[in-house]
Amino acid sequence: MAASAQPGAFLWGVATSAQQIEGAVREDGRSESIWDRYASVPGNISDGSDPRVACDHYHRWREDFELLRWLGVNAYRFSLAWPRVLPAGTGVPNPAGLDFYDALVDALLAAGITPSVTLDHWDMPQVLQDRGGWPARATVDAFVEFADVASRRLGDRVKLWTTHNEPWCLSHLGHEMGVHAPGMRDPYASLRAAHHLLLSHGRALEPLRRNAPGAQVGIVNILSPAYPASDSDADRDAARQLDGSFNRWFLDPVFRGAYPADAVADRVRRGHLPAGGLDFVEPGDLACIASPVDFLGVNYYSRGVVRAGADGAPESVRVVPEAELTEMGWEVYPEGLLETLVRVHRDYAPRRIHVTENGAAFPEPADGPERFADARRVDFLRRHLAAADRAIAAGVPLEGWFVWSLMDNFEWGQGYSRRFGLFHVDYATQRRTPRDSARWYREHIARCAAADAVRSHTQH
Ligand code: FCB
Repeated sequence: MAASAQPGAFLWGVATSAQQIEGAVREDGRSESIWDRYASVPGNISDGSDPRVACDHYHRWREDFELLRWLGVNAYRFSLAWPRVLPAGTGVPNPAGLDFYDALVDALLAAGITPSVTLDHWDMPQVLQDRGGWPARATVDAFVEFADVASRRLGDRVKLWTTHNEPWCLSHLGHEMGVHAPGMRDPYASLRAAHHLLLSHGRALEPLRRNAPGAQVGIVNILSPAYPASDSDADRDAARQLDGSFNRWFLDPVFRGAYPADAVADRVRRGHLPAGGLDFVEPGDLACIASPVDFLGVNYYSRGVVRAGADGAPESVRVVPEAELTEMGWEVYPEGLLETLVRVHRDYAPRRIHVTENGAAFPEPADGPERFADARRVDFLRRHLAAADRAIAAGVPLEGWFVWSLMDNFEWGQGYSRRFGLFHVDYATQRRTPRDSARWYREHIARCAAADAVRSHTQH
């Protein structure tokens, strides 16, 4: 396959995030996160659960590390819990928190697994939320401090850093829709949050580069192509709006130093921004946000299909009634990954791209011999990988692929009811069991490594 055509260089990984797997939320000095708080409100998590224990990874990380070794991945994407590293949000770092990640990084490196560290995968300390959270500009300074503290400790060894995971989800789902922490429903606050996320990304590049010399630093966006439900002008305009608010809002500032004018106008028209537009953007912000990055992380799950709803606003629809859906209700659409990668390369030309998340939740087979036979997940991953290969063949500088996720975990507002793992987790016993997809991925990586070995042998 084409990804293996880059001997040794291609990163085959799996991804997780701190809040979703660690548990131990009040141990060894960790403070409350916005997700701990959000999940404590009845009704916010669909299965009534919370992330207090999750996969208990904080205590079982050595066992989980063995899962990585068994898979044969050469990269592991995980995130640092900000409330574990800086329990007061800023100020005095927590030695136990830093020690935890330090030991994990050392173990990974000793096993030849490249750590890919995300600073913010949504779990900000609640104490910073109490001071205004992402809609408040002061949070930018707090994040830069977090980036500095984390990279001072780990930057000598961690050479892949991501500032933020999916700022769209955090700003939009968390501040406009109220379906993620911190549970706000305020479009203006959501746009402020998005801006401060982007600005803090730009500002964090400096300490990251200083403390982690030679590291590659980037940001991770969730991206989806946006299609109109019909050829009508109204539906086409709805697709333009979706693309503007979902994709371009988070790509244009980083790669072009400007917000997309049409998408800003949409927000003004809807009364989400004042007539003057982005009144929270200060001189110099956009130049800072557009500081060069070394890679873009792309999280890809599905495509968007929209028609013009009330007032012309985009409204999701299903155009292919027989389309395969995952348990999240997301259409399985591998071609959209090819399209997304080609488009990002053409329009924004990041130096490198990693697919930092791709995966699926499907209804679990009932108990029995077929329990861990997840043929649909294998098919999903295989087809998306084929799409990624076509992107590489088309010239996209794709250098890594991370499956979401290593193991089942706390799926945000859906709690434990959605399972994305290559490994099944029995939450009652914390037993991890490989699904067929884990075996498939393991074999796939081994095949690519073997092809590499043959190639480098014949080159010498
Ligand atoms: C992404 C998140 C990740 C996980 C997957 C299913 O949006 O980054 O944490 O929840 O979706």
